Amino acid sequence: MRHCIEPTDFTSQEVRDLIALAEDMIARPAAYAEVCRGKKLATLFYEPSTRTRLSFTAAMMELGGNVLGFSDARNSSASKGETVADTARVVSTYADIIAMRHFKEGAALVASQYGSIPVINAGDGSHSHPTQTLTDLLTIHRELGRLDKLTIGLCGDLKYGRTVHSLIKAMSGFENIHFVLISPDSLRLPDYMRKELERQASLSYTESDSIETVIGTLDILYMTRVQKERFSDIAEYDRVKDLYILDEEKMALAPERMIVLHPLPRVNEISPEIDNDPRSAYFRQVANGKYIRMALILTLLRAAEGIALEPKVPRIAHGTHRGDHRCSNPVCITASEPLYAQYIEHNGEKLCAYCENFIG
Ligand code: CP
Repeated sequence: MRHCIEPTDFTSQEVRDLIALAEDMIARPAAYAEVCRGKKLATLFYEPSTRTRLSFTAAMMELGGNVLGFSDARNSSASKGETVADTARVVSTYADIIAMRHFKEGAALVASQYGSIPVINAGDGSHSHPTQTLTDLLTIHRELGRLDKLTIGLCGDLKYGRTVHSLIKAMSGFENIHFVLISPDSLRLPDYMRKELERQASLSYTESDSIETVIGTLDILYMTRVQKERFSDIAEYDRVKDLYILDEEKMALAPERMIVLHPLPRVNEISPEIDNDPRSAYFRQVANGKYIRMALILTLLRAAEGIALEPKVPRIAHGTHRGDHRCSNPVCITASEPLYAQYIEHNGEKLCAYCENFIG
């Protein structure tokens, strides 16, 4: 059984295969119109979504399959206290594959451990958003024709932005990637992610607090929203929310071949005045999301039938007695469900197996 929980769940060759399949689906949609006939996708969304949920739904419909699920946890038995683990067991008896978005970090991993069908992480708190990353990679490949030798500016909320964290992890599989981290001090990339960048020989980074001074050096400018819902201090949100606004004046300083990406939704950080600039690729990025999710659904369903993908080498997860190596992250799924603590060892450090918080 293969799942998509982390962007690194696929080797760089498997990512290239998914991109090639998505590109074939774009070129020959009729060839894939019946490939999931009789299969059911369950979309379990405990957090709001427009693009991810609807693109998963559209993807399964384009493949000839059916979709069931909920878009608001208040209408599910989660509102009565049902755990993610039990929900995954139950849904496994109704569907063939799950796409789950949850506000708790590690929730999709729990679903993959307790369910008996493939699980796709459609976003878990501030932790990971691997299908957005696959969308980004397909878009970069289609727009620029390569996934290596890139200078990528990441701008805005680098602290809570799960799309940024997932993109950095995924790019470790490609060569000569330089990140320019553009954020205010309070929204800097977390230490553990900066350490990861320092460890990977193929990655490098510099930091800046201004778009204008670095935009001329970039192949890609990846804008992000400052996520109000992740702030406990609203005054701090108000202070940083409008610090970076990409407009015509700044785009005049950008290279002719640079592209602008954004996972969307945007609030103020991209002025609509640049929407018609050919370098603004964010709505083309949205369209690509459906095709990469089609490729992912088909690939994971085939893998569940023993076709195509090699089994993943499992991460070494150590079970512990409850109480030992507990994760202290308050939004980790282990804080709200009666799960045994599990940790992984990574570069000599112990990380929570669910949310990758440092635990010792
Ligand atoms: N990019 C993204 O995840 O959008 P939604 O929150 O609308 O799904």
